Order: sequence, then structure tokens, then C-alpha cells
Amino acid sequence: MPSPDDLTMTTSPANALIQLDSVSRSFRLPDGRRFDAVRDLSLSVHAGEILGLIGKSGAGKSTVLRLINLLERPDQGRVTVAGQVLTDLSGAALRRARQGIGMIFQQFNLLRNATVADNVAFPLRLHGEYRRDQIETRVADCLALVGLSDKATHHPAQLSGGQQQRVAIARALAPRPAVLLCDEPTSALDAETTRELLATLADVNARLGVTVVIVTHELSVVQTLCRRVAVLDHGRLIEQFDVAEAGAGQSPLARELARLQRHAALARQADLEDAALAAEAAHGADIGDRRIAPATAGLTAQPSPSAQGGAQHERSLHTTPAWAHASRVEVSAHG
Ligand SMILES: Nc1ncnc2c1ncn2[C@@H]1O[C@H](COP(=O)(O)OP(=O)(O)OP(=O)(O)O)[C@@H](O)[C@H]1O
Ligand SMILES: [Mg+2]
Repeated sequence: MPSPDDLTMTTSPANALIQLDSVSRSFRLPDGRRFDAVRDLSLSVHAGEILGLIGKSGAGKSTVLRLINLLERPDQGRVTVAGQVLTDLSGAALRRARQGIGMIFQQFNLLRNATVADNVAFPLRLHGEYRRDQIETRVADCLALVGLSDKATHHPAQLSGGQQQRVAIARALAPRPAVLLCDEPTSALDAETTRELLATLADVNARLGVTVVIVTHELSVVQTLCRRVAVLDHGRLIEQFDVAEAGAGQSPLARELARLQRHAALARQADLEDAALAAEAAHGADIGDRRIAPATAGLTAQPSPSAQGGAQHERSLHTTPAWAHASRVEVSAHG
């Protein structure tokens, strides 16, 4: 059981969907020594949020993720998901609870010899309590959600890496989980495909309200997708903060994230100014000295839908003169 002190370390356990209380996990090394991969770690993840787990290689990120669905059982401590104390469960009860927790991996882990549709149907068939028509409907819904309805009869080898990862997301979502755990889901993808995949994850979070925990070593992924971030070091949680307030973080990773945020803000500002100038130039070209409103009226920047947990943040630059009521210019802040 956690001590009261441990609980006060966590953020608002009252509305946490995932709650780790003083969990520890060690492994026996080949030479017989014990290695502490996760040490006395407490963490709360709120319903509906996207939390990034970052840290150096070997910091314990994957182990923490696997503690959440009890793929690794903690030596000590308690894991609670959606009000169920998973560490108190075993056998069929644990398997049922795990239906509420989907997971995707760096290498997609699809069944090579099964079609896309059969891959997505797999966890439902395994569960054994779905009728055939229910499975078909659910598979179709999940493939539509990730934009792969036309690939249902394909095999994984016929798909790109990004498409395979979207199949893995569809498969993870098929049992309608409350939680999606992602272990380096973009590490095998190129930059463009990474952006598309992050947009899919943000969409899943926004449309289904699925709580996402994502392990990544790419700070740009955190910056694009996550609202909050937790930093691990040598198996301990050393800090957590809102991504928007990365500047308040102390660790080198937090400082690096803050630096990225500043660069992104500057780039957005420069994009907006360029767009405003271009719009004014376009309008000013043939209007002579008639005072027609420049197209900067109500200039609105829209970060990608994936930004900040899928929420649509609108930033208005009130550069509009009072006499101007011209058309709006939409500018994508992320190009
Ligand atoms: N089954 C195991 N047996 C022995 N040691 C393990 C086992 N699983 C993990 N470890 C060790 O625990 C530590 C944490 O591993 P983990 O995979 O959680 O790290 P990570 O932060 O995900 O690293 P990476 O970024 O490289 O994936 C590592 O030092 C690893 O070698
Ligand atoms: Mg890992």
C-alpha cells in the first residue's frame, strides 16, 4: 500500500483513469544480481489526456508502460485502471480488464498471414463473446476511423509502414478500450508518415476520448501530440509538467523541449507574418488607392488538429483595422 506521502506526490488521483502507486519492478540479471528497472514510481494519468513518457534509453519507459496493463507485474505497489485495481486481479478477470487497455508497438506486431480485417478482428475473436456480425461491424468502424477501409482484404506486407501502424491502432481500438498505450509507435516511420500517424492518434483521442500514454524518444512527437509529459531517469519519475510549460521543467529533456517550443513559436510567428505580407501584397496589387481591406482581417492560425491532445486551438492575431471586414485567411501553423 502506498503511504499518504506517496499519494500526495501524484497529481489529482481522484480523477485519474490510470493510477500507479509506488510501483517497483526489478529483473534478475544473468549473473544473478537484481536490476531495479522501475523504482517506487507513482503516476496519475487523467481521463482523456495524452501523456508522453520520455527518458534516456534504459530509463524504464517500456517497463512502466507494461506495468499499466500488467504485462509486467510490479514487485511492489498498486496499479489501478478505470477504477479497477489490476494488481488484485488474475486469470479471466485480468484478461477482461485488459480488454479496456489497447497497446501498439514500434514494430506493429501484426499477423503476417492474416488480412487487415482479420488482424483487427483478432482481439474480438480471442475474447470469444462477440457475434460474427458484431465483429464485422466493429472491424469496419475501426478501419474507417484510421482511414483504411479500402485495405480490409490486403495483407500487412502489401501496406506501407504507416498503414501497418494504423492497422495496429485499429486492432488496439477494436475492443473499445478506454486506454491506448503506445511504445515508440513512430520510431520505424519517416517524418511525413510520423505526422500522419500522430494526427490519427490525436483524432482517436479527440473523437473517442481514449486516454493515450505514449513512450517516445522524439521530443517533436511530445510537442505535437502530448498535453503532459513525465520524465523517467534510472527507473524513477523525476518530473512531470504540461508541455506548454516545459520551461518550468528542470531536467535536460525538459530544457530541450522548452527550446523546441520556443523555435516552433518563432516559426509560427514568422509564418503568420509572411502570410500577412503575402495577402496584403496580393490585395494591394490592383486596388490602386481604394481602401479595400487587406486579407489579414481576422487572420487565424490553426495548429494541426493533432496539436495538444487533438483540441483545436485557435490563435487570432488582431491585426485587423476597424474599417476592415474582408475575408479570412487560414494559415496552417505547421505548414
Ligand atoms: N526482461 C528483462 N530482463 C532484464 N532486464 C530487463 C528486462 N526488461 C528490461 N530490462 C532492463 O530494465 C531497464 C529498463 O528497460 P526498458 O525497456 O523499460 O527501458 P526503456 O526506457 O524503454 O529503453 P529504450 O528507450 O531503449 O526502449 C533496462 O536497463 C533494461 O535492460
Ligand atoms: Mg523501450
